[in-house]
Amino acid sequence: MRILSGVQPSRKIHIGNYFGAIRQFIDLQNQGESLYFIANLHALTTVRNAAELETYTHDLALDFLALGLDPKRAILFRQSDIPEVVELFWYLSALTPMGLLERAHSYKDKVAHGVAADLGLFSYPVLMAADILVYGSDRVPVGKDQMQHLEMTRDIAIKFNAAFVPGYDPADPDGKEKGHAPGILKLPEALIQDSTAVVPGTDGQKMSKTYGNVIEVFADDKTVKKQIMGMKTDSTPVEAPKDPAATPILPMFRLFATAEEIAEVDKSFREGGKGYGHYKMRLLELFHERFDPARKLRAELAGDRAYVDGVLRDGADKARAMAAPVIEKVRKAAGISR
Ligand code: ADP
Ligand code: TRP
Repeated sequence: MRILSGVQPSRKIHIGNYFGAIRQFIDLQNQGESLYFIANLHALTTVRNAAELETYTHDLALDFLALGLDPKRAILFRQSDIPEVVELFWYLSALTPMGLLERAHSYKDKVAHGVAADLGLFSYPVLMAADILVYGSDRVPVGKDQMQHLEMTRDIAIKFNAAFVPGYDPADPDGKEKGHAPGILKLPEALIQDSTAVVPGTDGQKMSKTYGNVIEVFADDKTVKKQIMGMKTDSTPVEAPKDPAATPILPMFRLFATAEEIAEVDKSFREGGKGYGHYKMRLLELFHERFDPARKLRAELAGDRAYVDGVLRDGADKARAMAAPVIEKVRKAAGISR
């Protein structure tokens, strides 16, 4: 079982990214052969500054390693280190219908939010399909927002197989029946993490860097304190009972605390007698209990550039070795063999 996912290096990660995505990626390294990459080519659709992109890329590698990605179990690499991805992107582009891309929600959303409508942004799903298909990935853990991209990946793989594999039948993609041939490109399945509810931001809306309501996993102590203590609350007096649904405090406890403590907080909210500041202080403590080991490790790793570069280089070598047999078959099938 080959598990693969990618994350764009265009942000400082927040606890929504952690609880909603990264934590699951790291857990999956125990369940199969897992590949995680830093999607720096995709990030070019929005980041237009070399120093910034270099920094974000290195930072994201640090984040993954600090949060528990173990390079002995999982392969961590940069998208751009695998030229086979860009090559496959072209073969796929040659047979991807415009209509398929025109239906992409994420393209329409991004353009609506002011991202330039470039060819790169439009063909983003094709590059993503190449990312997934070039390693013969079986499972792709992603957030719900990426579901459509996974469906497009399957559609594009079917198109390729149908065009270039004699005897391929889309109804029998593994070629099990007599006279049928299996596809060259394996159809991946999305692994959608709907167990994690949406993590609320400090203002109660969905946490997102676009809304400026984040709690960053690796910000300095002062910033973290400011972000947690700045959580939006109402003016209910200290002694009055409080509505657990009116502020993001109880949902935050659900991420960090034990079932017992969550029940206690819920009860004391309803009883009243404690101010919001009291709960926020406790959340700050819980944040540090949870993330301080990773924060400490990240600071150590940040001083060891050679180690991180080495992990990424090793990862790239392993990933390229996995891409090689697939791209070889693809070239041959398309009539581009050497
Ligand atoms: P942002 O909204 O901050 O730009 P992204 O959309 O880039 O974050 O998120 C990357 C991944 O992190 C998403 O695929 C999603 O699974 C997860 N994620 C982001 N925000 C949240 C949230 N508030 N709750 C749960 N998961 C989230
Ligand atoms: N599009 C994904 C995101 O924005 C990142 C990504 C790029 C990806 N290539 C991928 C995710 C391949 C999974 C598989 O979150």
